[in-house]
Formats: sequence, structure tokens, C-alpha cells
Amino acid sequence: MIESSNQAADREPVELHPERPHPARVYDYLLGGNTNFASDRAAAEAGLTVNEGARTTARSNREFLRRAVTFLARDAGVRQFVDVGTGLPTAPNVHETAHAIAPESRVVYTDNDPIVAAHARALLTSEPGTGPTSYLEADLRDPETILAQAHQLLDFTQPIGLLLIAVTHHVDDEDDPHAVVADLVGRLPSGSYLALSQITDEFRPEWHEVSKDFARRGGVLRPRPRASIERFFTGLELVEPGLQVVNRWRPDDTDVYRDLDEGGVSVLGAVARKP
Ligand SMILES: C[S@@+](CC[C@H](N)C(=O)[O-])C[C@H]1O[C@@H](n2cnc3c(N)ncnc32)[C@H](O)[C@@H]1O
Repeated sequence: MIESSNQAADREPVELHPERPHPARVYDYLLGGNTNFASDRAAAEAGLTVNEGARTTARSNREFLRRAVTFLARDAGVRQFVDVGTGLPTAPNVHETAHAIAPESRVVYTDNDPIVAAHARALLTSEPGTGPTSYLEADLRDPETILAQAHQLLDFTQPIGLLLIAVTHHVDDEDDPHAVVADLVGRLPSGSYLALSQITDEFRPEWHEVSKDFARRGGVLRPRPRASIERFFTGLELVEPGLQVVNRWRPDDTDVYRDLDEGGVSVLGAVARKP
């Protein structure tokens, strides 16, 4: 069930700007989905021209999300999640992975793209008898609003799993994503976790061409070096195996991307605990 109202989906009409590529729809195309427009497909195809690994990047990142939530629910006992930059619904969604392990888990989803809001009510809703989900249209750069919503659904005396999966690379340096993440983490209870992944330029300089192409089309894509991605985890205790190319972060038998080389994936990710 969905407990709190889906504010964004209640608004009409939703302005989708089909002429401009949106990260959620470009990513959906790379994952093999069909919630995308010609501009999104063009941006994705341009990305594939300069970096043929972009599709693998998207898919192995999505697998990292599944394994990180599995770790948090199964091994760390986390029962509440805030997922910022949710993306278009793609099975398994966070609540589906968490509910398979702990049906009482609660999930707050947030994205700043109206097309995600338009799909959220139907597809990010939990089954009867399981913990509730809520969806909020909000920007990562606005932690205040995100946490106000989280306070309605979650218990801030208990650990929370904050998921920032493939979203910080859509925030420009001038918006100081490190300060934004530190602010969000700072407001979580002790014992909470941050799971974060982001595109890196560490292995393939071609990512800068993809970045320029995104900029020409009105989007933001900021690949970052390893040291910069490490900084997102400042003050936190990294869970083994630390910051890794996402397909090497606790790979399991179902992950078909586990043996890909680092450049082919080009996303670094980690899970860390707030002491
Ligand atoms: C590459 S997708 C990742 C989706 C999902 N987290 C995953 O890893 O499978 C990035 C998502 O972040 C969202 N996004 C980009 N900038 C954002 C911002 N400033 N605040 C909130 N969401 C944002 C996009 O709309 C998109 O849905």
C-alpha cells in the first residue's frame, strides 16, 4: 500500500519536455525499458558511440542497487530506506528487494523528474500486508524537503538506509554534491547506512565526451575520480569490500556482470555505516 500521498502524481498536467533528454528516461532506454522519447534515445545512442559500455554501466549499477539493498535488509537489519534519484520503476524496485527479506520494510522514494512521479503511484506501491512506500517529487539538493517527507513515514530513532544510486553524477560541482550528501547523512540516526554509486572517469576518459554531449543537450553528467567519490563517505565506516567498481561489490551468483573489466562498468560504489 501507499501510505502518504503521491503529491506529484496528483498534479495535472505533468510537463514531460519530450524534446529534452531526461536522465531517468535515458537510463530507462539503456536498461531496455520503453518509457523514453526520441531525444532520450538519441542522447543514449550518442553516449554509446563514445562509450559502448554505457549499457553495461547502467545494468551493472542496477544490480549493485539490488545487492546493496539485500545487504542492508539481510545482513545489517535495516528496515527503512530513503531512495533519492529513484528513476523509472524497474524490477526489482527497492521495496520489492527489501520486502522479499523483511516484509515490514518502509521505503521513501524521491526523484526530481516528473515522469518518474507519473509512474510512481502505480509501480512503486507495496503489496497489501507489507510495509508502506511513499513517493515525493523533490531534488537531492533540497535535503530539508526530502527529510520532512521521510519523517512522516520513518522512525528516526531507528537506522535508515540512504540510497544515492547513480544520482550524484547528475549534480554539478557548483552545487556542491559533497556538502549535500554530508547534510543528508548528518540528519540520519546513528547506525544508519549510505549506499552510493556514481560514474567515474578513472578508467575511461571517453566519459568526458559523454558529459559534453549531455551538456549540449541541456543535461548534467559529471564523472568523478575515485578520490572525489571516496569523499562522499567521509566520517562513515565503509563496509567490506569498500569502494569498488560496482560489479565487484559483493557479487553474487545471479550477477552476469561480475567478471566485466573496470572500464566497461565505470561506476564506483560502496556501502558505509554512520557510527
Ligand atoms: C541514472 S538514474 C538512476 C536510477 C536509480 N537510482 C538506479 O540506480 O537504478 C538517475 C536518476 O536520478 C534522478 N535525478 C537526477 N538529478 C536529480 C536531483 N538533483 N534530485 C533528484 N533526482 C535526480 C534522475 O531523474 C534519474 O531518475
